[in-house]
Amino acid sequence: MKPTINAIMMAAGKGTRMKSLDATKSKVAFDLLGVPLVRHVLNALKPMNIDTVYSIVGHGGETTERIVKDDSVVVWQREQKGTGHAIMQVAPYLAGKQGTTLIVSGDTPLITTASLQHLVDTHLEGNFDLTILTSVVDDPFGYGRMVRTKDGKLTGIVEEINATDEEKNIREINTGFYVFNNEKLFRYLNELPPNPKNGELNITFLVKMFIEQGFHVGTDTVASFEETLGTNDRAQLAEARRILQKRINHQHMVNGVTIENPDNTFISPHVTIGQDTVIQSGVYLIGDVSIGVGNLIGANSMIENSTIGNRNVIESSKIIDSSLGDDNHVGPNAHLRGHTKIANQCRIGNFVELKNAVLHDSVKAAHLTYLGDCEIGEDTNVGCGTIIANYDGKTKHHTSIGKHVFMGSGTTIISPVTIADEVIIAAGSTINENVEKRAMAIARSKQTNKPGFYDHWMKKIGKK
Ligand code: UD1
Ligand code: CA
Repeated sequence: MKPTINAIMMAAGKGTRMKSLDATKSKVAFDLLGVPLVRHVLNALKPMNIDTVYSIVGHGGETTERIVKDDSVVVWQREQKGTGHAIMQVAPYLAGKQGTTLIVSGDTPLITTASLQHLVDTHLEGNFDLTILTSVVDDPFGYGRMVRTKDGKLTGIVEEINATDEEKNIREINTGFYVFNNEKLFRYLNELPPNPKNGELNITFLVKMFIEQGFHVGTDTVASFEETLGTNDRAQLAEARRILQKRINHQHMVNGVTIENPDNTFISPHVTIGQDTVIQSGVYLIGDVSIGVGNLIGANSMIENSTIGNRNVIESSKIIDSSLGDDNHVGPNAHLRGHTKIANQCRIGNFVELKNAVLHDSVKAAHLTYLGDCEIGEDTNVGCGTIIANYDGKTKHHTSIGKHVFMGSGTTIISPVTIADEVIIAAGSTINENVEKRAMAIARSKQTNKPGFYDHWMKKIGKK
């Protein structure tokens, strides 16, 4: 029978070092490439064979709860009295039970499944009661130090605030990931002494207690320190972003995607990009994004929660919650949002905004246009400066425009209207009634010319 492995993620801390004005925001809700910090940790746990994940939330807990509740059992730590106190909150679920418990921190987003699995395997194969994931770093400041005797035997972990000058020189640090014999963890948790410096109950004090009890305590060294970087302040957060960005971009490049300036390209985890797509500098691909083959994603484009087909050219544009088929040209400076759907071979030009618009094949809206809450049939040409006035101040209305329609420049459409196929709309028209098939609609006042008016006017204003 496989041993039961549960996990506890500590995510209740105050995050004082983030220095946020927003008291409802927890450190672990900070964004890292479009994903909150805690979600990165939960995602690393996902492929492992874990029975139940318990997420401890507290400071800014409502926000954290919303982020973690689909993948874990939420446990509240109402007052944050330290990492040991955090784990105690899970006692109603796990105290007295056999099995193995993996403890992780919600503020270490770069940890990989492979390293967590290695830690668990080391623990199980070594028959340990406690196994600590450690790392050797150049600058151990702020981390708990692994204290060992001269012959290398571990005696405990000393926190930065408790460390002597000599201990501060220790470069082997506690990464904040542990695997415990569950029954022993909860048996000794209640006996934790408070940290004399700040009164907190630190999980790290258990190490010494376990060793004194003669329990079997082991360590596992993480493959790369980068994985266990804590994101306690915004400088560390930027460092984590740099590392994760490098990791993600590298993977896309070896898969056949051109990223022209990987140091300045931000791609969320789980974004998919097809071969021969070229990504220029300053691009953000955030959230749930899937991009096909052979696209050009131009400089400074931002694409969020959207699907892009194949061979599109997207120049410096913003695309949110939308989808594109194949062979479209978008931008420069277009804005697609609100579940806009573009089929194939469309041309969406500069300063064109589309909101909840469905465009069939070969629609052209090349310049300075707003199309909101509408459906437009294939091969229709939307003239420069067309506006769909979809909002009457209270309700958004829908407009439907047929196939092969030619709309002149400066058309204003007051929704809701239905324009049939093969209609011509004269430039400058304001359309607020339906137009039938093959008709031309012209809705503008007739022009009158006043001969000789120029001289009359100049005299009047005293210039002649
Ligand atoms: C902790 C370790 C330190 C280790 C480092 C690795 C302790 C006492 N120290 O220090 O040895 O080197 O991690 O990154 O454990 N949390 C709660 N409730 C609390 C306090 C904290 O849930 O009452 C959570 C935080 O949200 C965070 C995690 O526990 O996700 C770690 O807390 P943090 O304050 O960041 O500890 P460090 O100072 O980084
Ligand atoms: Ca930390």
